[in-house]
Amino acid sequence: MTNGAEQNIARAVIASARSILFTSGAGMGVDSGLPDFRGIEGFWRAYPAYRTLGLRFEQMANPHWFAQDPELAWGFYGHRHALYKGTSPHDGYALLAKLASRLPTFAFTSNVDGQLQKAGFRDEAIVECHGAIGTLQCTTPCSDVLWDAGDLAIAIDQVTFRSVSALPRCARCGAIARPNVLMFGDGQWVSDRTEAQELRLAQWLRGMALDGLVVIECGAGTAVPTVRALGERLARGGAKLIRINAREEGVPRGQIGIASGAMDALRAILD
Ligand SMILES: NC(=O)c1ccc[n+]([C@@H]2O[C@H](COP(=O)([O-])OP(=O)(O)OC[C@H]3O[C@@H](n4cnc5c(N)ncnc54)[C@H](O)[C@@H]3O)[C@@H](O)[C@H]2O)c1
Ligand SMILES: [Zn+2]
Repeated sequence: MTNGAEQNIARAVIASARSILFTSGAGMGVDSGLPDFRGIEGFWRAYPAYRTLGLRFEQMANPHWFAQDPELAWGFYGHRHALYKGTSPHDGYALLAKLASRLPTFAFTSNVDGQLQKAGFRDEAIVECHGAIGTLQCTTPCSDVLWDAGDLAIAIDQVTFRSVSALPRCARCGAIARPNVLMFGDGQWVSDRTEAQELRLAQWLRGMALDGLVVIECGAGTAVPTVRALGERLARGGAKLIRINAREEGVPRGQIGIASGAMDALRAILD
């Protein structure tokens, strides 16, 4: 089917929806100007210093750097923290927030960028399954305490991409702090905040007839398929899945796949 036909079906499905689950991955941020990090070339274009070091995203997003080389670790996360803080969510987010003001809506994202909150989504109706860059924890960790990064600003050497600031520390034990983001091979991530969010979503879904639920998924990749798997599971239970993805729009039979950038597709189906 053409995108136009799929978009018409999506509009009709949303018109009869009784609730919405909005799910997203890194592709949702691309139209706000944020990089997705999967392609090695894309990652190195965004972070040339790591090309020189031969380091991929999966290697940089690893907690061992906070112990072995905290300036390198904070160069990466400090830069991303500033990037996400300085980014405004694109129009697609505003259209979704408007939809959320008239239908019961929850959001589930693997993004750590805080863009949903910026767009006006309520904190109590968001799951950040990989954590959030604006929340910090102890690297040890000596406790489960989490705290807001507040106005944290890390100065970074533009050639080496290392932090040249004093690094944030745990107030309890003095160890270096780190973002409460789930990294690869991460045994130190404090999961309490995300677990509480997941519990709220489970409770929300429990009170719900799945045949009135529409899942709108944007920019979720196949490499770490958590976000896609959630929509597909709910679709097996009777929900409708609208998958918006620039390159990986394939859907299970009977669901709706739109091959498009997130902002354009959201304008086409929500505006
Ligand atoms: N903004 C963020 O917080 C951010 C950014 C990069 C990576 N990450 C982390 O890295 C991991 C990446 O996994 P992922 O699945 O989220 O991302 P991914 O990079 O693996 O996949 C991105 C997906 O978005 C699609 N896409 C690209 N541009 C698009 C656009 N303009 N509109 C719609 N779709 C588009 C791609 O086809 C792909 O399927 C996650 O764990 C995530 O936490 C987070
Ligand atoms: Zn500590």
